[in-house]
Amino acid sequence: MRAVFVFTALLAACPALAQDPDPELGRELAEQYCTNCHDIEADGQMKQYPPSFAAIAVFRSSEQIMSRIQFPPFHVSMPQMSLVLDASNVEDLTAYIVGLER
Ligand code: HEC
Repeated sequence: MRAVFVFTALLAACPALAQDPDPELGRELAEQYCTNCHDIEADGQMKQYPPSFAAIAVFRSSEQIMSRIQFPPFHVSMPQMSLVLDASNVEDLTAYIVGLER
């Protein structure tokens, strides 16, 4: 019982841990970091390189999207975004991309 209380108190003290991914924040991050290369709009083309976020939403699972943002393969020119994004940013971005699926 005491452990539950301590855990709840800890969660309340760290709102970042308790937060759900926020697609609107993901959109802002995308505008800041991703538009140089990707079309981030919901009406993005299905065939272009690098892929539009709309196409990624259709062809990839959220696990794949998250891992590609964190660990892009070294042979592609996608920058190592984990240098500027923390784990919750990656979840926000993934939530934004997944939400574009049509
Ligand atoms: C400098 C250009 C560049 C920037 C900036 C960039 N990307 Fe990429 N991204 C690429 C390239 C190139 C690929 C590789 C496509 C391939 O060959 O698989 C890629 C691939 C991806 C993939 C995997 C696509 C797939 O086929 O599964 C995701 C997800 C992704 N980017 C998300 C992002 C996000 C989110 C941001 C912003 C935080 C971002 N990218 C910023 C160039 C970029």
